[in-house]
Amino acid sequence: MTKEIVLIRGDGIGPEVIEQAKNILDITAASYGHCFRIKEAAVGGCAVDEYGEPLPEDSLTACMKADAVLLGAVGGSKWNDAARDKRPESGLLKLRKAMALYCNMRPVRLEPHLRGMSPLKGSAIGGGVDMVIVRELTGGLYFGRHETVRTTNGIEAKDELTYTEHEIRRIGEKAFEMAMTRRKKLTSVDKANVLDSSKLWRKIMHELAEKYHQVEYEDMYVDNAAMQLMRAPSQFDVIVTENMFGDILSDEAGMISGSIGMLPSMSFGEGRRSLYEPAHGSAPDIAGKDMANPLAAIFSAALMLRCSFGLEEEAANIERAVSEVIAEGYRTPDICRPGEKRVGCCEMGALVARRL
Ligand code: IPM
Ligand code: MG
Repeated sequence: MTKEIVLIRGDGIGPEVIEQAKNILDITAASYGHCFRIKEAAVGGCAVDEYGEPLPEDSLTACMKADAVLLGAVGGSKWNDAARDKRPESGLLKLRKAMALYCNMRPVRLEPHLRGMSPLKGSAIGGGVDMVIVRELTGGLYFGRHETVRTTNGIEAKDELTYTEHEIRRIGEKAFEMAMTRRKKLTSVDKANVLDSSKLWRKIMHELAEKYHQVEYEDMYVDNAAMQLMRAPSQFDVIVTENMFGDILSDEAGMISGSIGMLPSMSFGEGRRSLYEPAHGSAPDIAGKDMANPLAAIFSAALMLRCSFGLEEEAANIERAVSEVIAEGYRTPDICRPGEKRVGCCEMGALVARRL
């Protein structure tokens, strides 16, 4: 199989974790006889520094042409005071919008050997944790009008939150479809007791629930969902929610697995191209120190092989290699407890690579 993959290393720990994921892809290609043509593109703060904008035209073109995109992370305090369109995050948001990646999927699973790393203990995680958060990715507050104006009473800032019926229905359909392939339970998270956009969200989800009657459906307010994730995460199978709530809840849920350094993600739409990225962000405080956990990036690469290229065996092989390394007690600092074998980002990647 020949595929073209665009790698975006990005900022902070992005380059380090992508390097390890790239190595895993190279080894997989060699041992299964595939040809992954890898092209690099600059997005984020590094692109601002080099080209003056966070999503240069060339980078966007490369992503639009690729078979799949793997991204490390963008952002860092260095660019905090930049104008909105010169911020690293704007590059990522524009890329999501331009590629029409309205559906973001973040699977959260508790590896049996990492149970002790979860901040949740005892009965809370006794039933295991295996859920997918389906986050709407190209609407809501992130893409509404933002405005800061001076008024006679001082400065006023506003961010618009809009959802159309169409945007809600298409993400809802993806979530119901996802639930159909799993335990057939879907929780839709909103704030319909306060927001109009949430009322519409709930109405459309109810229409879909009629159509997907095999799926056990429930509504949940976002504040309650944040609490339920801590109280009894085993109750969740698929969660669907709007952009901002999904951003927040996926960090919270990711932590249940022991570290957000383990959480991969996939973003897709109707198009052929998807984007894969670890959910952990750029973590500038540990960048360049060989302390980052490359497993979310490696899991993201495995997801890419499975979901974009249909390479189930290759993906499962990578996931097995990671499980073995974890079972043998090797840990990056974020998942390491006293008595375990502490390794850096490079060594963790190499350990996985040797077991492929
Ligand atoms: C994420 C990140 C991004 C988001 C940032 C970097 C813009 O937090 O992918 O969750 O908020 O979507
Ligand atoms: Mg986030």
